[in-house]
Amino acid sequence: MTIVEIEIHKVVEGYHPRKGLQGNEELRKQIQKNGLTDPIRVRPEGDHFVVIDGIRRLQVAKDLGWTSVPCIVEKIDERTAAHQSYLHNSEACRRNLNPIEVSLHIKEMRERFGYSVRDLVNLGYATDDQTIYNKLALLSLPEEIQKQIAEGTINPTEGYRLAAVKDPGLQKKAAEIVLASKDRSVRKTEKIIKTLIASVNRPEDEKAVSGPSHEGDIPGVFFHDSGDMHEFEDGTIPLIIVSPSYGVGMEYEEGVSFEQHIADLKRCVPEWGRKLMQGGHLCINFGDIHNFGSKNGTEPEIQLMGQVFQDLLRPLNIRLRDIVIWDKGLPWTTNPQVIAYIDTPHTEYRLLNSFEYIYIFKKDGKRGLPLDSALKSTITKNEWKEWISGIWKIRTVPSQKDHPAQFPEELPRRLIKMFSCEGDIVVDTALGSGTTIKVARELNRKGYGYERDLRYKPVIIKKLGIPEENLKQKDKKTGGDSTKEERSDAVGQVIAELLPQIAAESKGRGERIRGISFNRKPRLTKEDFIVDAVPLASPRPSALAEAA
Ligand SMILES: C[S@@+](CC[C@H](N)C(=O)[O-])C[C@H]1O[C@@H](n2cnc3c(N)ncnc32)[C@H](O)[C@@H]1O
Repeated sequence: MTIVEIEIHKVVEGYHPRKGLQGNEELRKQIQKNGLTDPIRVRPEGDHFVVIDGIRRLQVAKDLGWTSVPCIVEKIDERTAAHQSYLHNSEACRRNLNPIEVSLHIKEMRERFGYSVRDLVNLGYATDDQTIYNKLALLSLPEEIQKQIAEGTINPTEGYRLAAVKDPGLQKKAAEIVLASKDRSVRKTEKIIKTLIASVNRPEDEKAVSGPSHEGDIPGVFFHDSGDMHEFEDGTIPLIIVSPSYGVGMEYEEGVSFEQHIADLKRCVPEWGRKLMQGGHLCINFGDIHNFGSKNGTEPEIQLMGQVFQDLLRPLNIRLRDIVIWDKGLPWTTNPQVIAYIDTPHTEYRLLNSFEYIYIFKKDGKRGLPLDSALKSTITKNEWKEWISGIWKIRTVPSQKDHPAQFPEELPRRLIKMFSCEGDIVVDTALGSGTTIKVARELNRKGYGYERDLRYKPVIIKKLGIPEENLKQKDKKTGGDSTKEERSDAVGQVIAELLPQIAAESKGRGERIRGISFNRKPRLTKEDFIVDAVPLASPRPSALAEAA
């Protein structure tokens, strides 16, 4: 390679991928002191020479009044020179080009010098076509974001993700959030952008999610049956978590037959589904009925329950998306189902009923995510690792004296964290002791619940830590402050009034009543009674029908 002195007026600037090319003071001092140790690369064009690499050196030499400069002459065309110039300035050489300059250069290479994307990959501009397109996409970003990428405050990978958003307003908003984020991983950026897009695509009617039309005397708690959730408009609840009655004879479902239990679910579950918003989740915790045989006087038999929920929800476009097995880790010694090994006749072993299900249903459609709270509401990597398996080992509540079937707090905590955002409404439609509301509020959600058995009012008050003075006006009609005796008197009075009417109506239809149950609620009406009636000709008349 020969170095030749060329008259300086014959050396002219050509295409250069680097945009900010003002000579700098440091370079000037070096050249003054040592001369030009690194000759300028030029290519001949007509009677002059075009710089391939060395524009700043040329500028300094001109400033210093030089009449000639040392050059290396390369006999290449403009197209090849453009690439050479890039190579001299690329990361491998001097790390001179910022990502936006690289993108601009790639654009020139394609549009001005006719290189195809494939040519550029072959020349080493990227390892694949997509990366070339990504680099080009940076140029579609608003100028201020391009500046931040050029300066290095936003990295090119974040830039690629931002470019995918298309809308400049959103790109700016996303850039702000990315810059403010502590976690600058690619995944985090992707999540920010996905959330942002979801928040923008939020349907108008979902933006103003209506809360309940009124509050109960304990704020957020409605003491009536959740078969009627008139306090909420249809399609407005993002997350319902519920452990409905089990149909196994707990204290709050005494005397309820299997048929009545199913009738109860048929009445309530669709109402829950109607209240759920599009893209909202309904998480139902339940178990199969293990004492089905003993309740019905047959050999031991388990009644499966999951299908009941699926059949009731599918017509509402609410689909079963995931199943969690809740491993309750029961200590086997306290379980009456298990007889000691030594006492068990061979082949008669029974297994422990030590798990329940959580069916996670989702209503079709996409829910809009409120951007800021959605970004704040993510779960951690460790939580994700533990929860993803679908088998959740969570110990039951050790003492169940206030309510016989309380959730361990960890159970609603996981569901709330996974399927709602801060500020969301979370409803438990069979509230029991109030665990879901407690946890929801701790996680900055708006917790609401329905409980039809007033026995549990004190435990709810206790669990939610509501001071007496904060309880709203006590309402006698809802049984708000009635004692257990007063409540059963009131219920007894209604039953005494309504039963003869119900019996007479059945008789009029040629039916005989075998049994009657009712859904516990403060204000009973005739519709709350579930009548098990058969044609008059059937054997075994019930005492009740005879009395009527
Ligand atoms: C399995 S327990 C739920 C316990 C609750 N998860 C907790 O942590 O305490 C079911 C509770 O819901 C109530 N319940 C059942 N069905 C109901 C309904 N349709 N409406 C309102 N309350 C209901 C029962 O009275 C009972 O207290």
